[in-house]
Amino acid sequence: VLGPAGEARAGELRQFPPDFRWCVATAAHQIEGGNVHSDWWDWEQQPGRIRNGERSGAACDHWNRLEEDVGLLKQLGVRQYRFSVEWARLEPEPGVVDAAAVAHYRREVELLEAAGIEPLVTLHHFTFPRWVRAKGGWEWEGVGEAFERFTRLVYTRIAPRARDWVTVNEPLVHLESGYVRGLTPPGVQGAGVGAGARDLAPSRESLGRLVPPLVGLLKAHVRAYRALHQLAGAEGRAVRVGLAHHLRVFDPHRPLWLDAPLAAALDGVWNWAVPDALRTGVLRASVPLLLDVSVPVEGLAGTQDFFGVNYYTRDRVSASVRGGLRLGMAVTAGARTNDMGWEVYPEGLYRVLMGVHARFPGLPIVLTENGTADRTDALRPAALRDHLLYLHKALREGARVEGYCHWSLMDNFEWMEGFGPRFGLYAVDYATQRRTPRGSAREYTRIIRSGGLEEPPGFGVPPPPPPPPGGRGMRDWSW
Ligand code: FCB
Repeated sequence: VLGPAGEARAGELRQFPPDFRWCVATAAHQIEGGNVHSDWWDWEQQPGRIRNGERSGAACDHWNRLEEDVGLLKQLGVRQYRFSVEWARLEPEPGVVDAAAVAHYRREVELLEAAGIEPLVTLHHFTFPRWVRAKGGWEWEGVGEAFERFTRLVYTRIAPRARDWVTVNEPLVHLESGYVRGLTPPGVQGAGVGAGARDLAPSRESLGRLVPPLVGLLKAHVRAYRALHQLAGAEGRAVRVGLAHHLRVFDPHRPLWLDAPLAAALDGVWNWAVPDALRTGVLRASVPLLLDVSVPVEGLAGTQDFFGVNYYTRDRVSASVRGGLRLGMAVTAGARTNDMGWEVYPEGLYRVLMGVHARFPGLPIVLTENGTADRTDALRPAALRDHLLYLHKALREGARVEGYCHWSLMDNFEWMEGFGPRFGLYAVDYATQRRTPRGSAREYTRIIRSGGLEEPPGFGVPPPPPPPPGGRGMRDWSW
């Protein structure tokens, strides 16, 4: 790059703190294969549920490839690995613990520890044992007790030395797709909501359905939070327990009109209602005309030791009021998009991190997921660098980000989208189960080894606005 005087300008070197936790993330159902006792397994057998009729089946066969896959983690050089343990495997029938499954996960944790990789254990990542779903999932009155029992089992017999825990992954993604859009178990579709549509006419009825399972989920979280602290405390160990929140940037499609207040209301509910409830103990959410909730949850206040952020993209929000309030979600015009059509918007990571920092000053933050679906790896290396540079900017401005987990270690079963989307640093050939590092895996390793990366000159400077039509700029362009 040449400066104004023609001399070469080097970029700025952005070093991360030496104890920064470089990490990658996966979830059991998406990689292990053969998760036959889970509600998702049943869901996948129903026609029309998964794109192209795919099923998780053997997935990445991770269940049978522990050593090989821990080898991939070593090759990457990560310091931490976020994964989930599958309740449906550990307790396939109520009260029946599968000793072989316990031993399997125990071995996984030991392999990680032997490799010097710290586990970050997720207890619930979208799936339930079939029997819990049959009783009502998070709406079942016994779910808190059962989840606590499961949590105690995982701590005592599988990961007694793990420091970092996520109780539940993305509560609102999980519940909205299951109870409003009907795309995932239990498949409840609210009025005015087309399953795959980005354009919704949500009603009080459809949004109101979220509340009972959300309250059940939060109560179960409280029990798991307390159990982990009690068990660890009794041994003189420290644990840190949080959730992984899916944060999105909501920008108005048009800055004026109703789009702006609607985008702000969505931000308030989607991004902050759950984290705020974990601080105040009261679940509050309001969207004009659609939702007005205030529910105290006993014991909830102060049950978040770190703020887990899953960040992927932004939405452009538009409102229309013909025949009730309609909510439109679109992708920014002209934006870079990934294989799933999601905008690749690295600056959004900085924005959500500064949002967390402003609302929860001093609370440690962990990037529990960030990545992109990019089969050819054309976007991922640059997207990875840009997200990390924006993360670093948030660090410099005071956000206490302690780690970054890239989603994902390898390609895997992307829920209702099936095997199409490719999120992996390692490509998986599902016919042979061969894992092959993409260029972005090498890029991530280079960053981890050097502890930082170079910020190109001009990084983050927005491009100049286009000239006004018919103005001076126009004349300059005409000939
Ligand atoms: C997140 C999920 C994760 C994966 C990524 C792409 O919402 O937590 O399991 O599907 O999206």
